[in-house]
Amino acid sequence: MSTTETAVRTAPARTAHRRHYLMCKPEHFTVNYSINPWMEPSRPTDTANAVAQWQKLHDLYLELGHTVELIEPLAGYPDMVYTANGGFLIDGRAYVPEFRFVERQGEAPAFADWFRAAGYDTVMPKEVNEGEGDFLLVGDVILAGTGFRSTGDSHREVGEVFGREVVSLNLVDPRFYHLDTAIAVLDPVQGTDNGGPERANIAYLPGAFDDASRAELERRFPDAILVSDEDGSVFGLNSASDGYNVIISPRAKGFEKQLRERGYNPITVDLSELLLGGGGIKCCTLELRGAK
Ligand code: ARG
Repeated sequence: MSTTETAVRTAPARTAHRRHYLMCKPEHFTVNYSINPWMEPSRPTDTANAVAQWQKLHDLYLELGHTVELIEPLAGYPDMVYTANGGFLIDGRAYVPEFRFVERQGEAPAFADWFRAAGYDTVMPKEVNEGEGDFLLVGDVILAGTGFRSTGDSHREVGEVFGREVVSLNLVDPRFYHLDTAIAVLDPVQGTDNGGPERANIAYLPGAFDDASRAELERRFPDAILVSDEDGSVFGLNSASDGYNVIISPRAKGFEKQLRERGYNPITVDLSELLLGGGGIKCCTLELRGAK
């Protein structure tokens, strides 16, 4: 190639898909215990700021044409804002979490009641699992994280509940203790339906996984976006995509650029206050697949 030629990689056209989400207003948000390396109870939190930042994310989803349902926040459960841990839903069936730590265990019955009242086929768990924090649907396959929260036995259970293939991935860095802090699903719809010739794709932080899991990700997703440690450590991957718009942290500058190059539309929302609890955009968002 001559130096005057520019290598232009034509980005595929992307299509936004309407999403149906469950969120929980952080009215009781604070950090008064520590169950992940981000949480420091001695550092002050600002609940009003958490609510204001959360509201922006909520309103953005509506502007983008998504629907958002709300679950009532429970006093004494400051982490309930992270609804991604409240369940895992496909085709109108809800698999309820069994939280690893006692501090969050009281959230599970509230989520189960919400799913039942909303008409979901609600399945109670036998195994420790933290919902969509550790289970990500990519096309027809469930990527499942373990190492810190959800157990390997829950991977078998989630596979039985939904009758789908489950790919177990081992998380090794305590900062990335849930799978949704280390992988972002960009096109949940598989095949050409995602607006381009590429198949359902993901972005991930290679250093968050052990060698075997990294090899598995490389094999299954050769086109994946590999995110830098810098972007990963500001929770850049903890993002929500509708197949075109990808809501990310304003600190994840490199990831923002990578997304643009691939034809996605990154939109930044700052959830710095909620990061004090070790959660970001995706953590505050549970997808209700097969809405009732
Ligand atoms: N403080 C919460 C916990 O440690 C944060 C949960 C973040 N959620 C997520 N889906 N990554 O359980």
